[in-house]
Amino acid sequence: MKTLQIGIFGLGTVGSSTVQILTCNRELVERQLGATTQISKICVRDTGKTRTVDTSNSILTSRPEDILLDPKIDIVVEVMGGIEKSKEIIEAAFKNGKHVVSANKDLIALYGKELSELAKQNNCHFFFEAAVAGGIPILRTLQSSLTGNHINKISGIVNGSTNYILTRMEIENLSLESIIEDAKALGYLEADPSADLDGLDAARKCAILASLGFHNLVKSNQVYVSGIRNISLEDIKQANKLGYKIKLLAIAENKKDGIVARVHPVLISQDHPLAGVQYEFNAVYVDGDYLGQTMYYGRGAGGNPTGSAVVGDIIALGRQVLAQTRPDLDYASMGDKAIIDIEDLDFSYYMRLETDLKEDQLADLLSKRDIKIRSIENVNLNEETSDTKKLEKPADKNEFVIITERVREKDFKKSIEELEKTSNSITVIRIEEDI
Ligand SMILES: NC(=O)c1ccc[n+]([C@@H]2O[C@H](COP(=O)([O-])OP(=O)(O)OC[C@H]3O[C@@H](n4cnc5c(N)ncnc54)[C@H](OP(=O)(O)O)[C@@H]3O)[C@@H](O)[C@H]2O)c1
Repeated sequence: MKTLQIGIFGLGTVGSSTVQILTCNRELVERQLGATTQISKICVRDTGKTRTVDTSNSILTSRPEDILLDPKIDIVVEVMGGIEKSKEIIEAAFKNGKHVVSANKDLIALYGKELSELAKQNNCHFFFEAAVAGGIPILRTLQSSLTGNHINKISGIVNGSTNYILTRMEIENLSLESIIEDAKALGYLEADPSADLDGLDAARKCAILASLGFHNLVKSNQVYVSGIRNISLEDIKQANKLGYKIKLLAIAENKKDGIVARVHPVLISQDHPLAGVQYEFNAVYVDGDYLGQTMYYGRGAGGNPTGSAVVGDIIALGRQVLAQTRPDLDYASMGDKAIIDIEDLDFSYYMRLETDLKEDQLADLLSKRDIKIRSIENVNLNEETSDTKKLEKPADKNEFVIITERVREKDFKKSIEELEKTSNSITVIRIEEDI
């Protein structure tokens, strides 16, 4: 029986779980593969560090060439993260005829196409299911089970940290700032939380989902992105009163004239399945022309869920290697449809603003700018407004919550500029209605 030899780069959160699953579920893995497996080497930065998995049989190295130049190693698993060094390693792996599994969303969102082309040239397979939504099997689903459909739209909660923060704000009535510190202590946020809070991590996943879902190349720098830093508890409460939840969504749409790829906070109806996704969980909602809507839900990060996706890739890839199939690399044969600017899209908007204008003056100003109001409420007059808040606000200021009818984003932006002259506090959040 053939033995598939595996070399792993990285033995941190994901690498350790990958090794544990391959070891503990060895019999199951090998039965499905029809081959035995062997972890030949694991490359890390510091071979002296204490590890949570057994490394007693000298499989640790800090020399990449021990894996890359070992002719016996068939599969390279890259779970070390970062961009330039990982790219170098994966390129070298392909050039040496090794197949690659990676969990690296940052790298794939930027270089998925280039790396897939190199894999193809070298007749190597390249799998990266774990790069989007951790344990949720969404990429292979898009690439296999759903391929009979034109995928119209993909909407996902793909960043567990921000979903965790928004959920706790809502449930525990806490401010964003107070949860950020707690989330860091609990390991839900990095010491530098920018990639999560500013939506950049979700944008990378959005680019990969859009590329594979629509067979068109979308790079992460083509995704419109805006994070959750300006979402306040007051907005969450007001949205709830209006029948909405606030979520950070990654949204990709395949339109006739181009592709939309955007990550930003949205108000979605409380009845939508994505609205019920709480805490660190992820979900991806896919709309296909014959399929209709489906949702894929689960843990989007963490060692074991991500390791589960990595091992699933090792088995799927291993089967292809053993069957000597030609690599099927979607990224290597993608179209290049235009990307539609968010300014050319229509939305309804939620607005909360403090102004010295009266309701009729505000309505008049907006209507002169062709902004139609669907609902308006003076939340100063609302009984639930706290006494502290009333004290903080000057007596002549009104606070309004407005929902607009749909309007083109670029036109709306102009009207906001006008409003900003009358208000020093204005929050705007798009409402996601076609979902
Ligand atoms: N953590 C998650 O929940 C999750 C979810 C989905 C995807 N991912 C992706 O999975 C990858 C790994 O994440 P992780 O959380 O497991 O990272 P991690 O815990 O920081 O582990 C990184 C590992 O890579 C090793 N490493 C780093 N740079 C290296 C280098 N230049 N040469 C050799 N080894 C090096 C480190 O060695 P030392 O141990 O010696 O320092 C460590 O073992 C990333 O691409 C991440 O985006 C992670």
